[in-house]
Amino acid sequence: MDKFIIEGGKKLEGRVRISGSKNAALPVLVSSLLADGWSTYHNIPDLADIRTIKKLLANHGAQMEGQGETLRINGGNIVSCEAPYDLVRTMRASVLVLGPLVARMGQARVSLPGGCAIGARPVNLHLKALEAMGAAIELKEGYVEAKAKRLQGATIYFDISTVGGTENILMAAALAKGITRLENAAKEPEVVNLAETLIAMGAKIKGAGTDVITIEGVDSLRPCEVSVIPDRIEAGTFMIAAAITGGDVILEGCNPEHLEALVMKLREAGIAINPVEGGLRVQGAPEIKSVDVKTLPYPGFPTDLQAQIMALMAVSRGASVITETIFENRFMHVAELRRLGASIAVDGHNAVVKGVKRLKGAPVMATDLRASASLVVAGLVAEGKTTLARVYHIDRGYQAIEKKLTALGANIRRVKG
Ligand code: EPZ
Repeated sequence: MDKFIIEGGKKLEGRVRISGSKNAALPVLVSSLLADGWSTYHNIPDLADIRTIKKLLANHGAQMEGQGETLRINGGNIVSCEAPYDLVRTMRASVLVLGPLVARMGQARVSLPGGCAIGARPVNLHLKALEAMGAAIELKEGYVEAKAKRLQGATIYFDISTVGGTENILMAAALAKGITRLENAAKEPEVVNLAETLIAMGAKIKGAGTDVITIEGVDSLRPCEVSVIPDRIEAGTFMIAAAITGGDVILEGCNPEHLEALVMKLREAGIAINPVEGGLRVQGAPEIKSVDVKTLPYPGFPTDLQAQIMALMAVSRGASVITETIFENRFMHVAELRRLGASIAVDGHNAVVKGVKRLKGAPVMATDLRASASLVVAGLVAEGKTTLARVYHIDRGYQAIEKKLTALGANIRRVKG
C-alpha cells in the first residue's frame, strides 16, 4: 500500500486546477444506463472511484471509450441487472444503479452496501421511495431485489435530506409513468448537475436545487453531451491547505457559488478570499482565528470538508466547536490529528478543538477519504516528517493530489508499497 511522506512547513504558492467532481460524475455516468446510444461526458476526473463505476457499468453491458477527461458511454444494451457485492462493497455509490435499472429494465438486483467508516449509511429512503412508485422490493441474501412493470409517479417525502436517495429517485422518476414530486429533496450542486444531465436527455424536471423537485416521466430518453461540475470538495481542501500554510494560491476553474459556506468560515478565520479572473485567490494570514463550524446539507457547511477544517482549527488561536450533524461517526480523524499534537476533545456530535502553536510530524493513517485529506493538510504545516499510510483512500477522490501540491511548493512524495 502506498504512503505519503510530507515534510511540513512549506507555504503553498501558485495556481492549481480543480478537477471534475467525483460526487457529480458518479451519478452522471450512471444515468447513461437510461438511454440507448452514445453519450459524451466531459471533465471526468481520473480517480479510483471513477474506475469502479466504469467497471460496474461495463458489468451491466455499457460500452465505453474515452480519452483523458472525456468519456463516451453507450448504456443501450443492458445485459445484466445485477450489481455484485464486490463492486458495491468497494464503493457505496454503486447503489445508484438501482433506480435506473428498475426504471429501464423493470428489475434490479443490487447488493446492499454495508456500513462504512463514517456511519451506518442505510439506503432505506431509496427503497421506500421506489416502493411508493410501485416497485416490489425484497431483501434476499444481502441483495435488494426490486421489480416493477413500470414505475408510477408518486409524491415522496424524504425524512432526511439524502443526496444519493434524491439522485436515485430522480433517475427512476425520469422514466416513470406520470408525475413524481420529491419533497425535502437534496439541493447539492451534484444533484443539480444530474438533473441538468437528465434534462439534456429529454427528461422533464423542475425545481432541482430547491427542496421540491417535480419530474414528469417520459417514455424514453436520448443520449446527451454534458460536462461535470468542478469538484467543490477538492477546491475546498486546497483552500484550507493554502490557509493552513499561510500561502497564496489561485484555484482555477472552481465554482465560487458552490463554496460559499466555506468562504464565509475562512474569512471569519482571517483568510483573504477574492475572486480573480478564472478562479478564486486564497491568501493565508499570520494568525488563524478560531471559528465554530456545523455541518449541514447544502448550502450549509459540507460534511466532506469537516475533517479538513478541523485540521485548520487545530492550529488556530483560541478554541472552536465543530459539530457533525450528517454522519454519526465522522470523527475518526481526531485520534490521528492528536498524534500530530492537536488538542481535540470529542463529546457526541461535537469536537472541541483548542488551537496549538504547532503540530509535529508523526506516522498517521486514515480510515476514509476526507480524513486522509485532513491529515495531508495537517502534515503540510506540521514540523518535520508526517507519514500517511493507506493512501488508497485519498486516491478514491483526489486526482493526483501529491502532484498538485508539489506544483504549489509542498514537500510531499508518494512511496510505493
Ligand atoms: C453523498 O453520500 C456523498 N457521496 C458523500 O460524500 C457526502 O458526505 C454525503 O452525500 C453528504 O453530503 C456521494 O455523492 C457519492 P446521504 P450519500 O444519502 O448520498 C442518512 C465523500 O467523501 N440516510 O445524503 O450516501 C445517511 O446515513 C462522500 O465523497 C439514511 O438514513 O449521503 C446520512 O446520515 C462520503 N437513509 C444522511 O442520511 C437513506 O436511505 C445523508 O446521507 C439515505 C441516507
